[in-house]
Amino acid sequence: MGNELIQITAVSQPGLTGEPQSSPDSSSGGLKTFYIETFGCQMNVHDSEKVQGVLLARGMKPVGDHAQADLVLYNTCSIREKAAQKVFSRLGAFRKGDGGAGKVIGVLGCVAQQEGERFFERAPQVSLVCGSASYSKLPHLLDKLEAGKRRVSGLSLDTDECFETELTRRDNPFRAYLTIIEGCDQRCSFCVVPMTRGPQRSRPSEKILAEARQLVDEGYTEIQLLGQIVNAWQDPSSARWSFAELLSHVAEIPGVRRVRFTTSHPRFFSPDIVQAIDAHSTLCDQIHLPVQSGSTAVLARMLRGYTREEYLEKIHCIRKARRTISLSTDVIVGFCGETRQDFEQTLSLMKEVGYDQVFSFKYSPRPNTLAEANGEALAEEEKGRRLAELQELQRQIQVRRNQALLGETIEVLVEGYQVRLGQAVGRATTNRVINFPGSPEDIGRYLAVKVTGAGPNSLVGARA
Ligand code: 5AD
Repeated sequence: MGNELIQITAVSQPGLTGEPQSSPDSSSGGLKTFYIETFGCQMNVHDSEKVQGVLLARGMKPVGDHAQADLVLYNTCSIREKAAQKVFSRLGAFRKGDGGAGKVIGVLGCVAQQEGERFFERAPQVSLVCGSASYSKLPHLLDKLEAGKRRVSGLSLDTDECFETELTRRDNPFRAYLTIIEGCDQRCSFCVVPMTRGPQRSRPSEKILAEARQLVDEGYTEIQLLGQIVNAWQDPSSARWSFAELLSHVAEIPGVRRVRFTTSHPRFFSPDIVQAIDAHSTLCDQIHLPVQSGSTAVLARMLRGYTREEYLEKIHCIRKARRTISLSTDVIVGFCGETRQDFEQTLSLMKEVGYDQVFSFKYSPRPNTLAEANGEALAEEEKGRRLAELQELQRQIQVRRNQALLGETIEVLVEGYQVRLGQAVGRATTNRVINFPGSPEDIGRYLAVKVTGAGPNSLVGARA
């Protein structure tokens, strides 16, 4: 989901999409190896895949840890303060003399955008600062570093372009991320994203479709369409497809088995999306629809653009779909001015909807956002208590919902194998994870698995 904390590191198997544009000798400036660590959402994970593509095309090689790398990049997240702090703790290690000498250290992503050139003062070991709206300038910035420049930055947000590159090094061999829209024009009062990712810009439908077809040709069977607000996508090309039409076209590509999309904003969620899911079995039985709060008063202060009732209408529309669609959401607890009654409204909404997964967070004040202006801050302990209460409720809901699946047979894509346990790890179209006795050869296959056990976070099964 848009909020999963994922860390990926460069791995050494090949998988570069597209032809290198420059010869391996172009890294003669000394940057021969790289290491990227990624924090934050799928957009960041996928941005890092594109950045890796650019670096591979320069003839650079990925290495497994920062100590061996000439170029160390941190792709950062600033959605909450805790996430933003991570890069500073990584950089602190270099300051203490842990092998920083002779390396080029760069910071990408949302903290880079937020801090800008202040980074150079705060962390003098950093030579490159670049926000996601400037990634198309990365090759140029790397050229400058190789030519001996000490500090370079790409921080302009004034763009109407997406980061287009033929050179993407995807990490997952089955599921390919595909960006359809970048940036965000909403002004939710808690959220830093519009300030860190720039204005909203959609890719043309023909480019998206061409990339999706290419991915299928390369053997990917699952495509995940990405955007901060994926369903705000508007086709800039003359075809003028709606988002639902785009979904249908991607779903109809021969060889596609699964299509997911994340993250949807309730404000832009229209019934034609559900109709598209009804019409295409390849569109997964899963929708992530962040509600943030169950209280209309809090939603108004968050500037979300919908009421509790309007949100529930969208849920009602999803519940009327032909297949049972799994629902997940994001919730912020302890937003400025959230009363006990407001919080109870969130709990009651969760009971009413019955989500299959909830990503919940304590409100974390962010720089340059409006939230502080419109309500009294809650004590951290109170936020913590509310979070624990909400998570316990959701745990019970998930146990109940997962146990209702006992005895059912579901199709899973096998994504991994745990050697120690002899267990294959599969994922259902609903995004549920299921563990079952299998073999390493199962990875990448679609198998029928019967559900024999259910916990709050995953299922247990056996080959049907
Ligand atoms: N504090 C806490 N959570 C936040 N999110 C976004 N901004 C904040 C913040 N300032 C959460 C929202 C969003 C998810 C990606 O992160 O729930 O949907």
